Amino acid sequence: MKESILPLNRRILILDDEPGILEAYRGMFTPQASVAVRSSRSSAAAAVAPLSEAQQFEASYAKTGLEALKLIEEGLKKGEPFVGGFFDVKLGPGIDGIETIRRAKELDPHLLCVIVTAYQDRSVDEITQVFGEEFSDRWDFLSKPFTNTEITQKARNLISNWDRRKREREYIEQIQAQQEQLIRSERLAAAGTLARGIGHEFGNILLRIIGKAELTLLKKNPAEMETTLRTIVAAALRAGVIVRNLQSLVKAEAKMEQGDVLEPIKDSLMLIDHELKEASVKIQENHVQGLPKIQMNRIELGQVFLNLFINAKHAMEPNGGTLTISSKQEKDGILISVADTGCGISKENLQKVFEHLFTTKGEKGSGIGLSVSKSIVEKHKGTLTVTSVVGKGTAFHIWLPL
Ligand SMILES: Nc1ncnc2c1ncn2[C@@H]1O[C@H](COP(=O)(O)OP(=O)(O)OP(=O)(O)O)[C@@H](O)[C@H]1O
Ligand SMILES: [Mg+2]
Repeated sequence: MKESILPLNRRILILDDEPGILEAYRGMFTPQASVAVRSSRSSAAAAVAPLSEAQQFEASYAKTGLEALKLIEEGLKKGEPFVGGFFDVKLGPGIDGIETIRRAKELDPHLLCVIVTAYQDRSVDEITQVFGEEFSDRWDFLSKPFTNTEITQKARNLISNWDRRKREREYIEQIQAQQEQLIRSERLAAAGTLARGIGHEFGNILLRIIGKAELTLLKKNPAEMETTLRTIVAAALRAGVIVRNLQSLVKAEAKMEQGDVLEPIKDSLMLIDHELKEASVKIQENHVQGLPKIQMNRIELGQVFLNLFINAKHAMEPNGGTLTISSKQEKDGILISVADTGCGISKENLQKVFEHLFTTKGEKGSGIGLSVSKSIVEKHKGTLTVTSVVGKGTAFHIWLPL
């Protein structure tokens, strides 16, 4: 066939209940056919000569609305949709042309249509009302009697419109895919920068571990060995926190589930409980009972709390203090506060604590804890804010929507 020359979809549907009119269409769309017909109902006399360009179309014919819908359905099933159709409005018994189109566009949202009628029985405005604004550029109008030039020209338009729309959809999909790719690579680039930034810190941690381990090997007395082993454990824990921070940053998407916000708090307290006790930090919890569940990722929120608890512990060194964790309902969400009685944050630094790589801890900090925490909270459509008084303490406030 002509498939190789005309690679477009050329499938056109014709719906008309008058055999004479159907024959007229057939004559236009069938190669080498020669038919002359007269409409029995309308006065349309469409004498039709065969067109060489008939070969440009692949037409299917239906006499009733339901027949037309069946053809559309079958085409879709076979992966051979129609570009569009010529729909007669007044059909015999059964659904009319307008109803057929309404059902057809539910079956195939990309179908185009030409409404063909002998009577101006529905005004353009009325038809727009039936199909809605979003369909307004997908239908065309033709009155009987029509000429074969009108029909073939409209058929050509159907084909090229359908093709143009298909290309547009593919183009938009392509752009969307590119954007997603860009977001992914930006995330990776950010993670790369962070990885480089903290690379040296990992080196330091390993040096500390190896140095202390070698020292431990030389010790004979278990008490001395314990001190160096504790340093090793602390260094390894710190490395673990860094790795988890990086992981939550690079992870493309995490599962969100309904959950109790106290769960991730408990998870993180369990991890750090021992360290807090050792640092003489007292834990106080004030939770309003029976708070509603929220949409959350337990692992990620646990990471946020862990970062806040570790920061609080650092802020209260060397004498310790009180870590107060409270939760209550506020506005359409839940407000969780993590407050310490530590050194506080200066006005100048308060602006910077959420920045990537901002740290006042020198070698001991990497400055990603709070920036990762903030992005996790924002992914939950919440907010992370801070209030602080130098010398008195700091409180971080996490608000998460219900
Ligand atoms: N509770 C707090 N009290 C006082 N200062 C704080 C507190 N929490 C954070 N900060 C300040 O904010 C800075 C940034 O915190 P962030 O958690 O992002 O990085 P970090 O703790 O330095 O390093 P890490 O990446 O290991 O967490 C800290 O270096 C510290 O100066
Ligand atoms: Mg930190």
